Amino acid sequence: MCGIVGVLGKHEAAPVLLEALKRLEYRGYDSAGIATVHKGQLDRRRAVGKLMNLSDLLVHEPLAGKAGIGHTRWATHGAATERNAHPHRSGPVAVVHNGIIENFRELREELTAKGLAPETDTDTETVAILARHYMDEGMPPREAAAATLKRLEGAFALCFLFDGEEDLIVAARKGSPLAIGHGEGEMFVGSDAIALAPLTDRITYLEEGDYAFVTRDGAEIFDEEGRRANREVTQIKMDSARIEKAGYKHFMAKEIAEQPVVMADALAAYVKSGVLELPEAVDFREVDRLTFVACGTAYYACLVGKYWFEELAGLPVDVDIASEFRYREPPMSPKSVAIFVSQSGETADTLAALRFCRDKVARIVSVVNVVTSSIARESDLALPIRAGVEIGVASTKAFTGQLLVLALMALKAAGDKGRMTDAEISQRLDELATLPGLMNQALSRSNQISEIAKELSETRDVLFLGRGRMFPLALEGALKLKEISYIHAEGYASGELKHGPIALIDAHVPVVVMAPHDKLFDKTVSNMHEVMARHGRVLLITDAKGAAAAKAGTWKTLTLPEVPELFAPILYAIPAQLLAYHTAVAKGTDVDQPRNLAKSVTVE
Ligand code: F6R
Repeated sequence: MCGIVGVLGKHEAAPVLLEALKRLEYRGYDSAGIATVHKGQLDRRRAVGKLMNLSDLLVHEPLAGKAGIGHTRWATHGAATERNAHPHRSGPVAVVHNGIIENFRELREELTAKGLAPETDTDTETVAILARHYMDEGMPPREAAAATLKRLEGAFALCFLFDGEEDLIVAARKGSPLAIGHGEGEMFVGSDAIALAPLTDRITYLEEGDYAFVTRDGAEIFDEEGRRANREVTQIKMDSARIEKAGYKHFMAKEIAEQPVVMADALAAYVKSGVLELPEAVDFREVDRLTFVACGTAYYACLVGKYWFEELAGLPVDVDIASEFRYREPPMSPKSVAIFVSQSGETADTLAALRFCRDKVARIVSVVNVVTSSIARESDLALPIRAGVEIGVASTKAFTGQLLVLALMALKAAGDKGRMTDAEISQRLDELATLPGLMNQALSRSNQISEIAKELSETRDVLFLGRGRMFPLALEGALKLKEISYIHAEGYASGELKHGPIALIDAHVPVVVMAPHDKLFDKTVSNMHEVMARHGRVLLITDAKGAAAAKAGTWKTLTLPEVPELFAPILYAIPAQLLAYHTAVAKGTDVDQPRNLAKSVTVE
């Protein structure tokens, strides 16, 4: 969601804030703003749309000052207008916020009755007004901010800046992450370490409920009860190359292309001399059931995981969408393991589901990309996917990274349950080791896919079909296409087609069929022929055997290398991603920052 940054620097803050916001723009991009204190005076600039607009505005209306806060917004309350853009200001207080203040209506009424009516539609402005109210009553800035925080319900990361205070930012975290960066005589605050990467590598993560008085000398941190808290300063490794486009037109293109390397790196980390080395703590011997919880693409990774765990380890698996999970009161076995899959590790629904499972299951395991994230830290065990920073809003390398870790866990479970011998596991690991090479071959189909995408970009609706392990891939292919090209797309289990969706088929609706030549292939081909009999245009994504067996009649056939059957979903993710990518490029949509979306969804 929104990105937050704060600077107490030695140099002018505005350019530093802008640079840091650029690195956070992937989180939200419908408006942006900064506020600084200069010669004791608080002032701000805000602009609707991409950060570039704010940067242009600052050329004409510069903002001096070495202390400042900045924000890039993903609107929750109130439209994306300048008035609703952050920082919000009331009298001597300016505030930037990520999250939702759930009790803002009550607070608003209370403050309006006191003559402090809001000027915007946002929940955030209430925070600034409340702090101002406490200052009007005579509280100094620190106390006013602390008193304000006590009144807030919901999830937030906040930074306060005050008139007359050129060496103070109050930072607070509840539900949304916030990191404090330590420089030499300078201090920084950011929604995540990426924002602070070139400024410092010494980071303190605030914990749930913490707030901090940040000055150039350091940060005084307090816990939720107002007690002084010691939080570690950690040295983080931030490979800046991984947050550059490196010659690619889009982050998404770079991240798709990185997958063979990411896969090889992760395999090297988890498989040593041909032997699977997951942490001992992942022990499935006593486990009777698994519950997977995630959102979006990560949820589809879990659906694939279900096939693997059931088939290899014989373990029953439930897979839930995080935002639904808590509300259906699922009965949970104390011998079960709950597994939470999340690229960002900050997805509010997934985190809430994790907390819901605490004390109900034997173990909470997470599969994350960001190892310092809330989900990682609140799990009994966090398994990193090691994909490196993913900037493109549409998840690509994180998806295949999640699939790999789930596949490795399923193999571990199969061993623990006595369903596979070491030799059988080792054979499967050898199969996984072929994936980086196969992925490279799949990537070489990019030009061919780009040609197909030009035609696809002219359509309004697309269906994706898959059977068995390829069914979740059909869902993922459709999600990828709709989120970045805005073409309506749906994924279906091939066999479901004639139970309704076939009514949509005509010459205008392309149907993408994802079907390696496996034991289910013939059945999928039958479904494909049902489409073709109704003049549907079929794009068949298969291997050479599948292409030969399918015979003529498809609109297009895309041939991938043959892949070990079990792990085909990992390979088939690549054409699904490339198809979405090239279609979006052909349509001219914003690939890395598609409309209405944000990278890290920290509100429920
Ligand atoms: C789609 C996409 C989203 C995320 C979902 C969960 O391309 O990126 O559907 O997968 O928002 O996010 P994480 O994995 O960060 O929990």
